[in-house]
Amino acid sequence: MDPLIRVGIALPQRLLEAFDAQIGRQGYSNRSEAIRDLLRARLVEQEWAQGGDVAGTFTLVYDHHRRDLVSRLLELQHDHEKVIVSTLHVHLDHDNCLEVLILRGPARQITALTDALRALRGVKHTTLAMTSTGAHLA
Ligand code: NI
Repeated sequence: MDPLIRVGIALPQRLLEAFDAQIGRQGYSNRSEAIRDLLRARLVEQEWAQGGDVAGTFTLVYDHHRRDLVSRLLELQHDHEKVIVSTLHVHLDHDNCLEVLILRGPARQITALTDALRALRGVKHTTLAMTSTGAHLA
């Protein structure tokens, strides 16, 4: 583990009060851990924006009866097989499927895949959870 370095920062009083109130509601026991998490979130955001190696999960809900949709979903996934680590498929009901893709690789390739999947007709809802490989986060 990296050594911890103590730093002092100056903040407007009301900003600090609002921050303390929020992290209290979220269950943080001290400011340091909340600030570390904020910094990590910002670094992950930048890794994605700069096209670095990232990780994430993409969830989609779709109607498998939709004409040609399943074959297009599969085709796109095979075209991007290098960034798909694993997939999970759940049959939600007679019509609807939920699929989760675990993704890892260059952010631009992952974004190209998720953009293409999201835009398919018959895909009802998607979420992309952007996270990190952890390599650049202490
Ligand atoms: Ni299904």
